[in-house]
Order: sequence, then structure tokens, then C-alpha cells
Amino acid sequence: MKISFSVFVIIAIFMAAALSHAASGNAVHSIELPKIAVELRAGEGNETTGRFCNICHSLDYITMQPPFSTAQWTATVNKMIKVMGAPIAEDDAKAIINYLTAEYGTGK
Ligand code: HEC
Repeated sequence: MKISFSVFVIIAIFMAAALSHAASGNAVHSIELPKIAVELRAGEGNETTGRFCNICHSLDYITMQPPFSTAQWTATVNKMIKVMGAPIAEDDAKAIINYLTAEYGTGK
């Protein structure tokens, strides 16, 4: 009966390991991510820009840029749509580009 006793010991060890694993799995851990609240400047197109440009990343991607020309903001917005897959219709894209050029650009 020596063999069956060692088998019993091995099974007991596995069960203990399984139980302690299950016990540690019950603990609920949570983390709090920092909320980055970026307020876009007031202006026509502010709401549309805030709605669409906030889907994938923080709006500070906009506020951190140097003042861009219309051509540069157009290229950025088109890149977000064509390369990144931003779901922005043409009219909204125009409103966003006008807003960005006026408030975060060279104004022309
Ligand atoms: C579908 C997701 C998505 C949406 C919506 C989106 N972006 Fe982005 N954007 C990205 C990704 C991904 C990057 C990072 C690209 C990289 O690291 O090169 C990025 C990067 C940027 C950058 C950093 C510079 C650059 O050219 O990479 C700017 C500026 C920017 N986005 C502006 C905007 C604006 C303005 C809008 C709204 C018109 C917008 N994004 C909407 C995905 C998105």
C-alpha cells in the first residue's frame, strides 16, 4: 500500500494548490486610470471635434500640436479617417478642419 499512499499525497498536494489558486482568484483587484480632461477652446465646430476626435485618444493630441495650417490639419484629419479608420463624414471633417485651423492653427 506504499504506492497508493504516495498517490494520495500527490493528489492532496495538487488539491491544496488548486484551492489556494482558487482562493487567490477570488480577490477583486481594480485600478483607477487617470482621467485626462481636455477642454477644447470655444468656437464653431468645437462640439463636432470633441465628439469625433475623442473616440480613440485624448483630445490633448490636438492641443499639444503646434499651430498648423489648413493643409496640415487637413492632412491630419484625413490620416485619422483613411489610415486610422475614424468614422467621420465629409461634412463633419470640413467643420473639424475649419475649427482646428481657427482655434489650433495659423488661421489659414
Ligand atoms: C479611429 C481612431 C482615431 C480617431 C477617431 C482619431 N484618431 Fe488621431 N490618432 C489615432 C492614432 C492611432 C494615432 C497615433 C498615430 C501614431 O502614433 O502615429 C493618432 C494620432 C493623432 C495625432 C498625433 C499626430 C499624428 O499625426 O499622428 C493627432 C494630432 C491626431 N491624432 C488628431 C486627431 C484628430 C484631429 C481627430 C479627429 C478628426 C482624430 N485624431 C481622431 C487614431 C484616431
